Amino acid sequence: MSPADPAEPEETISIRHVRPGDIGAVAEILESEHVNQGTQRLPFHPLSVIEARLADDPAKFKLVAEIGGRVAGYGELETWPDRPRLCHGGEVDMVATHPAFRGRGVGRALLAAMVDLSDRWLQLSRLQLFVWEGNDRAIRLYEEFGFAAEGRLRQFVFVDGVYRDAFLMARLKERQIAAGPAEGGPELPRP
Ligand SMILES: CC(C)(COP(=O)(O)OP(=O)(O)OC[C@H]1O[C@@H](n2cnc3c(N)ncnc32)[C@H](O)[C@@H]1OP(=O)(O)O)[C@@H](O)C(=O)NCCC(=O)NCCS
Repeated sequence: MSPADPAEPEETISIRHVRPGDIGAVAEILESEHVNQGTQRLPFHPLSVIEARLADDPAKFKLVAEIGGRVAGYGELETWPDRPRLCHGGEVDMVATHPAFRGRGVGRALLAAMVDLSDRWLQLSRLQLFVWEGNDRAIRLYEEFGFAAEGRLRQFVFVDGVYRDAFLMARLKERQIAAGPAEGGPELPRP
């Protein structure tokens, strides 16, 4: 079914935090071939590596996208609240769609949720990520959300037998810092 087909109802994608029961479904995503190509994952990992990745961490937001009750994608937003001079920033550490659900808006929904968290809840003004050269699907998606390339990292990653360059991409949000007296605010007593 394609959501673009006017005869078909649009699919509902819901986003929530990952739960312990999602480990098997997230493992399926993280071990799929296109995810290994686009990330630092290896083709095989013990389940304990994925369990450790999904463990609670107040500095990391680990989201799943669901379609019809099935886990269709996984995303991670990393923050640095313990680093006072970096805590305005965060990193999209993973956006990955289950092989059975690609091209149906799952990656977009996960990234939208992370950008929303960053902009409207966490007060982050800089979001960054690393993407391998040639991952055109991901790069196009990031550009649509305002990410721009800031640098090329040469032969950064070894993928399927070949060294590949990476791009550092980032998206900046203007901080709303009001100057001058608050409009309509109370008159404060002057000494
Ligand atoms: C990148 C990835 C997350 C995209 O997820 P997806 O669920 O297939 O993407 P969506 O359906 O949400 O589409 C969002 C956008 O991605 C891009 N995209 C999706 N399918 C595409 C395709 N076949 N060709 C080119 N661009 C495509 C488009 O920009 C699309 O926007 P559009 O619908 O307006 O054209 C997915 O391909 C994936 O899991 N890749 C492997 C993991 C990975 O590389 N992650 C990024 C690490 S930096």
